[in-house]
Amino acid sequence: MKWAYLVNAIISIACFIFYLESYQQKVNPRHILLFFFTNVANYCFAISTFAENWESLYATFQIYYLGSIFTNISIILVIIELCGYKTNIFFRLFLFIYGAVIVFLIASIKHHKLYYVSTKFVQIYGMSYMDRQYGPLHNMLLILIFSTFIISITYICLGLKNKKDVPVRTVLTLLFMFFIGFIIYIFPKLIHLELDFLPFMYTLMDIIALIIFRRAVLYDISLSILSVYEHRSEYGYIAFDINKRYLGSTEYAKHIFPFLYGFRLDKKFTNDDAPLSPFMTEILPWADEWLNGYQQTKLLTTGKIINELSMRTIQRNKEIVGYLIVIKDVTQQQKYIELMNNYNLKLQDEVFKKTRNLYEIQESIITGMAMVVESRDKSTGGHIKRTSECVKIFVEKLKLSEQYKTLSDKFYQDIIKAAPMHDLGKIAVPDDILTFKGKYSEEQYNKMKIHPNAGKEIVGQVLAKVDDTEFKMIAENVAHYHHEKWDGSGYPDGLKERDIPLEARIMAFADVFDALVSERCYKEAFSYDRAFEIISKNLGTHFDPELGPIFLSCRKELEYLYNHMKD
Ligand SMILES: [Fe+2]
Ligand SMILES: [Fe+2]
Repeated sequence: MKWAYLVNAIISIACFIFYLESYQQKVNPRHILLFFFTNVANYCFAISTFAENWESLYATFQIYYLGSIFTNISIILVIIELCGYKTNIFFRLFLFIYGAVIVFLIASIKHHKLYYVSTKFVQIYGMSYMDRQYGPLHNMLLILIFSTFIISITYICLGLKNKKDVPVRTVLTLLFMFFIGFIIYIFPKLIHLELDFLPFMYTLMDIIALIIFRRAVLYDISLSILSVYEHRSEYGYIAFDINKRYLGSTEYAKHIFPFLYGFRLDKKFTNDDAPLSPFMTEILPWADEWLNGYQQTKLLTTGKIINELSMRTIQRNKEIVGYLIVIKDVTQQQKYIELMNNYNLKLQDEVFKKTRNLYEIQESIITGMAMVVESRDKSTGGHIKRTSECVKIFVEKLKLSEQYKTLSDKFYQDIIKAAPMHDLGKIAVPDDILTFKGKYSEEQYNKMKIHPNAGKEIVGQVLAKVDDTEFKMIAENVAHYHHEKWDGSGYPDGLKERDIPLEARIMAFADVFDALVSERCYKEAFSYDRAFEIISKNLGTHFDPELGPIFLSCRKELEYLYNHMKD
């Protein structure tokens, strides 16, 4: 049995050393006294069991008593402090004198019978033991021990009831400790066991104290962080540990989440606490996302206030022990951002309108120029308008075809826009050629054939300031190459097959089709049958044989167009 007491004493000493090692900078003098006296009591009791005679037993027994009495006094002081209360100096002085009187009574037992009537050195369960007959003043010790229980439990209950900043887990752990302690103290007495179990209770208390102090340091860390931030009124902070147990918050945070005013320190956040609070519905899920490394910040609107939330870790010795939610009032910034966004949208809208207006002006100038050319060339009246409509119909079919449906919408839009410009080069053709009625001589025809080259130049100049280079290129190609032929026999460059740009090959169909079905001074208007027959026969010579079938498939729409379009 004596070995059990010795092991007990060593465990108790180990707890003390561990405490000092762990909290070097943050040791609390009262905690030190508690560990010190339990160590003294446990160690002296252990060596007293090895004593060989009454004298040496008595010597160690006295020191055991000293440790034991002041352990009780330390328990009272530490618990009152943990429960959030302060003791006054007279109370502490009273406790000290009370303890000192008992120590004095034991130190002087040889001279009186007030404390022990008699003592006897005995061996029991293989260990030395002091068998005592109690005198009247021994009740002082019993009063001290019971007072320790009663005062401690009273303060624990008071703390639980009145102090929201007393961690609930600390209080419950203390209650548990006293429950076990009480059993350890009372049980041997009930079965009249001549053994002292107090040393075991003291060690249990050392272990539990270590757990509680470890937690208390965490509160200290978060409290000191929170107190640093308290004065920053536009910021709020909420601290919680890695298990989402509440560690405290600043005034601004409480203002945003009022349920925090009554929230107990160390309580775990669960949905039942304030089911409707945005803290539960938005912040906690977001905190989870943050912990998983997703969403870095979050905006939260409560009433008229917009808050930005971010998170930081609370660390102890480089280990993450908790988190700090930082709440920042960004109402002003958000309003400003919103204002800027609205302004930008307005501006964009304005730019869009202006640009569209510019395009419209550009298009009407182009059409106007084309009309000027046309007014000189009486024989082809309405050619520009009709070919443009033809191109539109052709393009719609191309968009649906297997081969050409992958081309961009913009490309097709650009061809439609470019079509009215295809004969712009006729500005450069002399009046007598343009207005000549009858079949051209070779010389006249050669003069007419300059219009594609001239057209390319004129279109280039008209569109010189246009940013859209893609459109510029398409418009130039249409003007330049609409008289080229698939077999290379066209003009001005005699390009062949796919060397002729696609947009010019498309234009060629519309240009020739309109010439065929319209009346000219040198010929009658051909029937649709004849016109489509001629085009169909010339696929692969004049026209692109791949585009051909698609153009031919436009017959219904083209006939409808020509039947309904007045010059
Ligand atoms: Fe032409
Ligand atoms: Fe033409």
